[in-house]
Amino acid sequence: MKNPILVTGGAGFIGGNFILHWLGESLGPVVNLDKLTYAGNLQTLAPVESNPGYSFVHGDIGDRALVAQLLREHQPRAIVHFAAESHVDRSILGPDAFLKTNIDGTFSLLEATRAHLADLEKRDATARTAFRFLHVSTDEVYGTLAPTDPAFTEVTPYAPNSPYAASKAASDMLVRAWVHTYNLPALITNCSNNYGPYQFPEKLIPLMLTNALAGKPLPIYGDGLQVRDWLYVTDHCKAIAAVLARGKIGETYNVGGCNQRSNREVVTTLCALLDELVPNSPHRPHAQLITSVPDRPGHDRRYAIDATKIIGEIGWQPQESFETGLRKTVQWYLANQEWVQGVTSGSYQQWLSHNYANRAAIAPQEVTR
Ligand code: NAD
Ligand code: DAU
Repeated sequence: MKNPILVTGGAGFIGGNFILHWLGESLGPVVNLDKLTYAGNLQTLAPVESNPGYSFVHGDIGDRALVAQLLREHQPRAIVHFAAESHVDRSILGPDAFLKTNIDGTFSLLEATRAHLADLEKRDATARTAFRFLHVSTDEVYGTLAPTDPAFTEVTPYAPNSPYAASKAASDMLVRAWVHTYNLPALITNCSNNYGPYQFPEKLIPLMLTNALAGKPLPIYGDGLQVRDWLYVTDHCKAIAAVLARGKIGETYNVGGCNQRSNREVVTTLCALLDELVPNSPHRPHAQLITSVPDRPGHDRRYAIDATKIIGEIGWQPQESFETGLRKTVQWYLANQEWVQGVTSGSYQQWLSHNYANRAAIAPQEVTR
């Protein structure tokens, strides 16, 4: 059996989809290290819970002793680093956790990896050469675009505007420095807005979906003409697997869906889909629920990804158009109301209280299956 990959933040939206994809395609075993913040949901991973190639470790990427032990114990062939605080609105309300996890946490993970690789070099030079650290980042590091500006490329200067974006930009710089200074075999991907199954209903699409089904207002910030480049999450997962397999150490790859849409367009398209797919809804037409609310402070106007490099060098392309991806997403949420209710009721975090009530310290071997 191949050595596993270590995924951080695998109980979150993209990490969870990535693990389901990776195991579904039989690409090898996975160890999932996740702190289970409000965004971590093990219900997403229920389909692979009893897969012998999957194990879960409850812990913080900033716990260097824990990460060192996991690296020794599992000898992963790669780390795919998703763990982060990811929501811009939350970063505006309270940036502390963003700096702690996204910057300090990434720093700590890099240091644990560096120490592990120094040890591996002595024992198994081939494994050291094959090892990869893939850092999953965002297009928000590039700042904002005017309507006629060309899309972000890998050489667009960094200009982060929110506390979240600044923390991700800082983590990218740390990764870059660890490649150049310590020869750490890392790659970076910077992607646009993801959407799809299992996304926490604080982000635009799942929030609008769950609110519309409940007949609640659909709050659009400002004029709603801000543009995002929507990437279906499975397309993103395939891009990450492809970069891990074929990307060059020290390189950055932009990943985008080639689907630029204004927020207002996204929400009206979603409402029309709900009108069609839920014909008996008492809230039809759902677009009547759209409400303008004050804008987000420092709100970036437009993001757009130029994906020429990953398409040309890695051979990846998004498969979903926004229309096909959004239809799949709405159908998934309609068919998985139990998952949604688990999140909205808070019951998705029962696992934590069942397993860890009144326990102060947890040794990694206790939580590794
Ligand atoms: P998410 O918020 O859904 O999930 C984050 C996961 O990380 C959760 O399971 C959480 O419990 C875990 N986590 C948080 N702090 C941790 C810590 N200190 N130690 C261990 N685990 C911790 O995020 P997401 O939307 O799945 O995003 C994943 C990654 O992709 C992030 O790095 C994010 O910056 C990046 N990204 C996301 C998007 C998007 O549209 N969602 C777009 C571009 C980049
Ligand atoms: O671009 C990549 C980034 O996309 C990721 O790095 C982040 O982790 C991810 O959260 C996402 O950031 P955004 O701020 O773009 O996503 P969000 O879903 O919060 O908002 C999308 C757009 O919709 C944004 O312009 C703000 C707007 N919005 C959002 C919410 C939640 C609204 O108008 N109303 C809302 O209620």
